[in-house]
Amino acid sequence: MGWFFSPVLGVLCWVFLLGCANGIGANWGTQTSHPLPPSQVVQMLRDNGFQKVKLFDAEEATLNALKKTGIQVMVGIPNDMLFTLASNFKAAEKWVSKNVSGFVSDGVDIRYVAVGNEPFLQTYNGSFLQTTFPALQNIQAALIKAGLSKQVKVTVPLNADVYQSPSGKPSDGDFRDDIRQPMLSIVKFLSDNGAPFTVNIYPFISLYSDANFPVDYAFFDGSSSGVVDGNAAYGNMFDANHDTLIWALQKNGFGNVPVIVGEIGWPTDGDMNANLQYAQKFNQGFMNHISSGRGTPMRPGSIDAYLFSLIDEDEKSIQPGNFERHWGIFSYDGLPKYQLNLKTTNTGALVRVRNVKYLDKQWCVLKPSVSLNNPKVADSISYACGNADCTSLGYKTSCGDMDSRGNISYAFNSYYQKSDQEDVACGFDGLATITDMDPSSASCRFKIMIDVDSGTTSIRPLHQFREQSLGFLFVFFCIALLF
Ligand SMILES: *[C@@H]1O[C@H](CO)[C@@H](O)[C@H](O)[C@H]1NC(C)=O
Ligand SMILES: *[C@@H]1O[C@H](CO)[C@@H](O)[C@H](O)[C@H]1NC(C)=O
Ligand SMILES: *[C@@H]1O[C@H](CO)[C@@H](O)[C@H](O)[C@H]1NC(C)=O
Repeated sequence: MGWFFSPVLGVLCWVFLLGCANGIGANWGTQTSHPLPPSQVVQMLRDNGFQKVKLFDAEEATLNALKKTGIQVMVGIPNDMLFTLASNFKAAEKWVSKNVSGFVSDGVDIRYVAVGNEPFLQTYNGSFLQTTFPALQNIQAALIKAGLSKQVKVTVPLNADVYQSPSGKPSDGDFRDDIRQPMLSIVKFLSDNGAPFTVNIYPFISLYSDANFPVDYAFFDGSSSGVVDGNAAYGNMFDANHDTLIWALQKNGFGNVPVIVGEIGWPTDGDMNANLQYAQKFNQGFMNHISSGRGTPMRPGSIDAYLFSLIDEDEKSIQPGNFERHWGIFSYDGLPKYQLNLKTTNTGALVRVRNVKYLDKQWCVLKPSVSLNNPKVADSISYACGNADCTSLGYKTSCGDMDSRGNISYAFNSYYQKSDQEDVACGFDGLATITDMDPSSASCRFKIMIDVDSGTTSIRPLHQFREQSLGFLFVFFCIALLF
């Protein structure tokens, strides 16, 4: 049995256990016109070795699909519920009873409740400043009353601009002056209750909003524009931003509060810096970073993080920018967009959502005979784009290279598909026609929507059982080896 103890196997086991230590999570948002069936998405999560998901609400169908899967869940409370939950303890009790207790007893592994989502974003003008903390307190009290406060922790996912550093050095980090008091109340409460601080960190947004932001500092390959801070050298923005938070926590007496990276990722379309190449580079760099177990200078060790996001959402608000609908590592139909090794599977390749049912292979396009000068064209485009999704049209986007006829067709098709290929949705005052010739090009995909009415579910208990027992045997074997 000498081969059992070969160094190769030892290293394999070590890597395996390390990879298991924290795992990687995914944000699963559902602001989409044609959602994939939750059971198929959950199967895909398992196929890809995701160990946890973060949700933005507590939808029943989603939570039901997560029953007895072993996947850890963070459920979310939308900002528009904060006022009610802050002012009414009974409402908080009901929320916990309906959206946590019931699912926990049915075998959903709920670990966290996210109270609000980035409630202190500056664009909200302080609307949630008064309600976030009391809502957090009420939910925590309701969890205690339900006997769940040991296994389910509260948190508030916050945007990274709740703290800042005037000098750019992490060690000068502190909470923003205008929200200092509410931040300190929240942090103290989290600390008192053994709950984590959750922060969303977006180097992409820094690059998007500042033309002078050094591009390579957004990624993980080291940057000449890094920051030196005492003994620590920062070659990427993620580490520096993360440690600015750690310093802010430490300075205020909360240096031991655990930190979760609630959202991190890179969009693939809708902006000149949102493309497959950058998204691949960023997310792979991040996965390599966390699987190294290195951590950051201020918090060496494992990083607890959720990628943003799992699947594209075509109904997200584009107020922050056209890239908003393109954060997925999978496209709307569950296809991987690029090569990404999550270090959780043997192949190191992303596994697509299986058994996806599409609508018919047909597209709606501008009639070749219609002149571009036709006065009805402009109104038709704005109607189509206003009601569907034209965020892939624009400077340096995936469909940005088409001629005018091409992008009119793109707009028409987007509306037609979103309307489930109804004939009337390809009218446009006689400007449009249906074709079965795919107008897509190498970079620009004319989508066919998925068929939401006849989506199939695939449950393969036997296969799952085999995978699980193999994994279990392997861990057992590794532990045996360690002794
Ligand atoms: C439970 O969560 C859902 C989805 O977020 C929400 O619509 C519903 O109001 C919640 N239930 C209660 C009793 O608060
Ligand atoms: C915030 O204030 C700005 C300017 O005063 C306004 O345009 C915007 O609509 C406000 N947003 C919200 C969410 O209240
Ligand atoms: C459509 O194509 C033309 C190029 O002929 C371009 O100038 C225009 O901006 C495009 N429209 C949209 C909505 O991107």
